[in-house]
Amino acid sequence: MSTLITKTEQLKPALDDADPMPVPTDALMVTPEHFSVDYIINPHMAGNIGTVDKKKARWEWEVVRDKFRNIGITVHELPGQPGLPDMVFSANQSLPYVDTAGRKHALMSIMHSEQRKEEVAYVERWYRQNGYNIHYLDADLIPDFEGMGDAVWHFRKRLLWGGYGYRSSQLAYETISDLYGVPVVMLELIHPSFYHLDTCFCVLDTDSVLIYPKAFTSDGLELIHTAFKHVIEAPQHEAEELFACNATCPDGRNVIIQKGCKEVNKKLKKYGYAFHEVDTFEFLKSGGSVFCMKLLLW
Ligand code: ARG
Repeated sequence: MSTLITKTEQLKPALDDADPMPVPTDALMVTPEHFSVDYIINPHMAGNIGTVDKKKARWEWEVVRDKFRNIGITVHELPGQPGLPDMVFSANQSLPYVDTAGRKHALMSIMHSEQRKEEVAYVERWYRQNGYNIHYLDADLIPDFEGMGDAVWHFRKRLLWGGYGYRSSQLAYETISDLYGVPVVMLELIHPSFYHLDTCFCVLDTDSVLIYPKAFTSDGLELIHTAFKHVIEAPQHEAEELFACNATCPDGRNVIIQKGCKEVNKKLKKYGYAFHEVDTFEFLKSGGSVFCMKLLLW
C-alpha cells in the first residue's frame, strides 16, 4: 500500500515512524567528455548551445569528484556516451535504495525528454554489474520520472520527498512508495527555472533544509516547515543563477556548493556546517550543478 503525504497532519506521525536509513557511502559520476549544451529542455540552457568549454568542464568535474572523495565518499566513474550530452547529470537516470536487510535496489527512470531517454540503459548496466536489484516503472501508466532529480531522501530516515510538475509525474510516487515501502511527501513545483526538486530543495540533515521558497506552493511550504526545524532560504540570485540549492550535504555536516553563494554560506556557517565551494559554471549552462552531477549510493 502506498503512502503519499499531502497534508501536514499526516507528516508528523510519518516522520516519527520512519525507520532509520544509513547515510550513503558511495557515489556514481558520469565522466564529462561528451557533455555539452546541444538542445534546450530547461530555461537555463537557452542561449548556451555550443558554448561549453570542454577542458574547463573536465577540470570542474574533477574538482567536484575530488571533493566527494575528500569527505569520505567512494566515487565510481562511468564513461559518458557520445550523443548523450546530459548523461553527466547522473542523479537523473535512477533512484537507488538500500533496504533494511542491506540489499541494494535501483528504480530506473523514464526520462521526460526524448533527447535523454537512451541514458538510462547505460546506468542500468552499471547497476547490474554492481549487484543491484533493478526495478522499472510501468511506462504505459507513468509518463515520466527523473530519479534523484525529483526524489530526494530525508536525512537518515526512510522517507522520500517527491517533486512533480515538470519532469516527474505524481503517479510515479505510488509505485515508488509501494516498491520501497516508504512514505513519500509530495511537493508540487511551480517555477520553470526550478524544474527538478533538487534545484530548490537541499536536505542538510534531519532537522535542516535549504530551499528556494518561490519554487513551491503554499501547501508545499507548509509541509517543509512542518518537517524541518531549520528552513534556510536562498535569495533569488543565488538560487536561480548559482544553483545554491543544488548543493549537497551527504553526511549532515559537509556542504559542497557552487562558488559565490555568499548569503547562503553565511547562513550555513551560522548553523555550523563546513562548506566547500566548487566551480560548476560550465554545468550551470545546462541547468545543473553539484547535486545532479552525482548519484548518492549505498
Ligand atoms: N540539462 C539537464 C536537463 O535539463 C540538466 C539536468 C540537471 N539535473 C538535475 N537533477 N537538476 O535535464
